Amino acid sequence: MSVQTEFSRYAEEYGSYNVIQRRVVAKLLKDLGDERPRRILDLGCGNGVLCEALTWRPEHFLGVDFAPRMLELHPKGSNIECIYGDFNNPLLFEQLGYLAFDRIFSGSALQWSKDLDRTFAMIASLNAPVSLALFTANTFATLFKTAGITPLLRSAEEVAAAALPWFGDVAETVHYRLEFASTREMFRYIKRSGVSGGRNLLGYRETKRLMEHYPLDYLEFEIVFITTRGRASGNS
Ligand SMILES: C[S@@+](CC[C@H](N)C(=O)[O-])C[C@H]1O[C@@H](n2cnc3c(N)ncnc32)[C@H](O)[C@@H]1O
Repeated sequence: MSVQTEFSRYAEEYGSYNVIQRRVVAKLLKDLGDERPRRILDLGCGNGVLCEALTWRPEHFLGVDFAPRMLELHPKGSNIECIYGDFNNPLLFEQLGYLAFDRIFSGSALQWSKDLDRTFAMIASLNAPVSLALFTANTFATLFKTAGITPLLRSAEEVAAAALPWFGDVAETVHYRLEFASTREMFRYIKRSGVSGGRNLLGYRETKRLMEHYPLDYLEFEIVFITTRGRASGNS
């Protein structure tokens, strides 16, 4: 299943399984300090976690996602617009280049970029401060090790190195834990939260083996935050 199909298929359930993604959004907003960007771009906006978490009314909020079902669930309004777009596609950025943004957000989405250097370059071409958060390789570290699966995502170091030329030395790596009452719940979470990125992460054999041998009652998450300072003109 592709990333796109997976996010559309589980869009309804995403809202109840996106605990870590909501924590990520909370940190992205906390790190803004007093800044209240008026014109916001949200890449990989999903069902609108960022939009709903804003404590102020932006002048224009533009959410971009390539999962149609997620876009349907995203809040809409006179100041909130959602468009279909793929952040791997330079044409999207060509179109976005006609607009001005005070800040570009992306929470828990850019790990699925096919070419991160290129996506970062395209984001930087929009000339706005950024608040980006990407899942990295130590997400599910023990689970991968126990199942003998190679991590799917880039390492935190790779992401920091890709960000450096465009945003400077600003990468911050944060670890989260999510506890579960049972391994069954843990596996349901993995399936429904969109963190497996379309890869059939756990086949029957891996699931069975993990259920027997996974040594923890929590899942591990590793997220790299890339936040650049806002410009005075971007604040209101
Ligand atoms: C884990 S969800 C995060 C959604 C939201 N940003 C949040 O914080 O809850 C990842 C989102 O990225 C979107 N996505 C993944 N790859 C994408 C791409 N190449 N272009 C646009 N959206 C993409 C998915 O459809 C999904 O809605």
